[in-house]
Amino acid sequence: MSAAPGRPQASSHRSAEHEGTPVHAVIDVEYEQPACSTQRAWARVPAEPTPSERGALKDRIRRLLRERDAVMVSHFYVHPDLQDLAEETGGLVSDSLEMARFGRDHPARTLVVSGVRFMGETAKILSPAKHVLMPDLDATCSLDLGCPAAAFGAFCDAHADRTVVVYANTSAEVKARADWVVTSSCAVDVVRALKDQGRKILWAPDKHLGHYIQRETGADMLLWNGACIVHDEFKAFELQALKDQHAGAKVLVHPESPADVVALADAVGSTSGILKAARELDARTFIVATDTGLLHKLRLLNPGKTFIEAPTAGNSATCKSCAHCPWMAMNGLVDLARVLETGAHEVHVDPALVARARVPIDRMLAFTAAQRARQAAGALVPNIGAA
Ligand code: 13P
Ligand code: SF4
Repeated sequence: MSAAPGRPQASSHRSAEHEGTPVHAVIDVEYEQPACSTQRAWARVPAEPTPSERGALKDRIRRLLRERDAVMVSHFYVHPDLQDLAEETGGLVSDSLEMARFGRDHPARTLVVSGVRFMGETAKILSPAKHVLMPDLDATCSLDLGCPAAAFGAFCDAHADRTVVVYANTSAEVKARADWVVTSSCAVDVVRALKDQGRKILWAPDKHLGHYIQRETGADMLLWNGACIVHDEFKAFELQALKDQHAGAKVLVHPESPADVVALADAVGSTSGILKAARELDARTFIVATDTGLLHKLRLLNPGKTFIEAPTAGNSATCKSCAHCPWMAMNGLVDLARVLETGAHEVHVDPALVARARVPIDRMLAFTAAQRARQAAGALVPNIGAA
């Protein structure tokens, strides 16, 4: 893929020590780039349709999905309409790992991915012959924005002795440079397996997830200095205060959150891991430190349980996301119907990059498939992962 418009360039180089781990803060990330700022994303979030508009749009989308041999693949953070419609029409709502697997394996000729850009790119890399459409191609991710391919390549060159493991929330160019791609539902297990082989890891881009993996595995990890603008804003002090107000509540945390927030968790996991914990933990009330989009599925699957948003700010603070990803929020029914009608907003990835980026993604899918097979055969598996 050629450099995406609006992707920021590296702005400075420095190094830092954080919690005893060498952290190479290669760039100071500037998210407020004109082409993809959070402000611009919020301005493009579609207005809520009226009930009659909503009904008409859903009918049109159902018809178009059939006519175009298309299937919907939605992430848990997008609007509930896009989650429900995906399931109701034979598609999927899930975490990023299952989105990738489902899109690869489904026979439809067109995948309509509601989520953010890297999810559409991964779908295209795994299914180059399919049309991959997205409601809005400018829906990006602060982790992807904060890891420009050229600066990342230089970081890898400077540490050529390390196995390069990148989070799925990256561009196709960054994936093409990696040995492994992982999502939060398999990151700990993959790194643990690499550590057992004596490998030293170069990790990018999410520093909080990187620290979490390191604490869980004890692996030697060199970290990129990226963060998710949504999870980075959860606040431990306010979370503890909320916990104190709700005796018996369990805290569920996505590992993109800061370490002091993770430390307060009763369960840490990917979006599907959080869903699993909410089902299995013995509590009626849960405080949830992840994007509020997940509350829709949490409430549907757990009637009678109460889910409370974890705090993103103290009394006088402001936040960029307030626990909802502005780029996920850009996905809406009107654009979804339009792209199905016209074939607009198709994801393209340079075929040369597809070939290289597919290798580390296939490794992840093979690793998790083998792990599942062992799980089905009754072997013990670690306490994190897909529901
Ligand atoms: P999951 O893989 O847990 O769905 O997370 C994707 C993501 O973007 C989290 O912010
Ligand atoms: Fe990226 Fe965070 Fe949005 Fe997920 S929630 S897509 S990590 S900015």
